[in-house]
Amino acid sequence: MPTLITNIKELLQIRDGSLSRVSGTEMKTLPTLKNAFLLIDDGLIKDFGKMEDLYEIQVNEVINAQGKMVLPTWCDSHTHIVYAGNREGEFVDRINGLTYEEIAAKGGGILNSAKKLQQTSEDDLYKQSAKRLDEVIKLGTGAVEIKSGYGLTTEAELKILRVIKKLADNYPITIKATFLGAHAFPSEFNNNKEDYVDLIINTMLPKIAAENLAEFIDVFCEKGYFSVAETEKIIVAAKTYGLIPKIHVNQFNSIGGIQLGVKYNALSVDHLEVMTTEDIETLKNSTTMPVALPSCSYFLGIPYAPARAIIDSGLPLAIATDYNPGSTPSGNMNFVISTACIKMKMTPEEAINAATINAAYAMNISDTHGSITKGKKANLMITKEIPSYGFLPYAFGSNLIDTVFIDGKQI
Ligand code: NIG
Ligand code: FE
Repeated sequence: MPTLITNIKELLQIRDGSLSRVSGTEMKTLPTLKNAFLLIDDGLIKDFGKMEDLYEIQVNEVINAQGKMVLPTWCDSHTHIVYAGNREGEFVDRINGLTYEEIAAKGGGILNSAKKLQQTSEDDLYKQSAKRLDEVIKLGTGAVEIKSGYGLTTEAELKILRVIKKLADNYPITIKATFLGAHAFPSEFNNNKEDYVDLIINTMLPKIAAENLAEFIDVFCEKGYFSVAETEKIIVAAKTYGLIPKIHVNQFNSIGGIQLGVKYNALSVDHLEVMTTEDIETLKNSTTMPVALPSCSYFLGIPYAPARAIIDSGLPLAIATDYNPGSTPSGNMNFVISTACIKMKMTPEEAINAATINAAYAMNISDTHGSITKGKKANLMITKEIPSYGFLPYAFGSNLIDTVFIDGKQI
């Protein structure tokens, strides 16, 4: 039986089903309908329109959204939420003056998380991760991409990917899995890095493909991590198993990761804190979505991705949380939207587009998610009473999400 939402103060992000992403000046527009209704049936958006055009219909529930906005749930296209424990100690080390790179160089960072995860059982890892997922769904996230990458051994990488699969089986939201075995070199491979790349290619990838545990391939392409040549080797091998690249590039240095991503039709290139004009040029005429991670910049105190330069050059932009224990221990998309506006000078319309339709594109789900479109999933949020949608980024730190619907069901 259908559910009807009535008296919606403003229904946001109404799009044609054929639209998969918005770019450049298009991002400044957020199509809306004031004083609207929305009809949910069979988990999907069945219809919507102006209240004055509402017709007689049999429903089993009517929700009055007087004074409230309705919008599609956020898509979080870049997270690492399957991790063990935390890195609060390193947080304090950074407060006391060490840099992220200095901490990593002395065995902290990703290797610290990998050690913890290797010692954590699959059940316990599932429980810790499920708690994080529960939290972000309540904050309005209706689809999430999750990466491996805190295992760094065949066994531990498979453990993470199996946990991701279990989360996907047990939770109603859409979950996409990414294999990020190339997140850091384990210290035992310090003097023979090629061997770790070979382990990824010859052992991990075939097992992951055999169990169908990932749809995307990711590599941390960065000085001190994986070079462009190593990244290329891994991407090429992963493509033979049908994995689509979505890669970490340009977090601290511009070393050619964007050129590589575009060359191999990466679905997205993520981070982008350090961008050259050539990087921006390369992204033009590509199908690759640039993805910025504002709360990572906030937490680490590193530069923000130059959103204005990216959007003003005509490119699309998506935003995501990067939820992980080291650089972003938060999965709050509402904070990401505020930070995108406050620190990256994106308008509320641009930020909402970046976190819905463009974010859906960055995880290959824009045919079902990311907009108010008839036939798309009824993954929706009702806000609290707010004067305008600009209040979502403006009132940073407040939780303005009242109700979340996944597949038409209230969470
Ligand atoms: O996306 N930059 C690479 N990976 C993660 C952080 C890794 C960590 O510090 O645990 C990121 O920021
Ligand atoms: Fe990341």
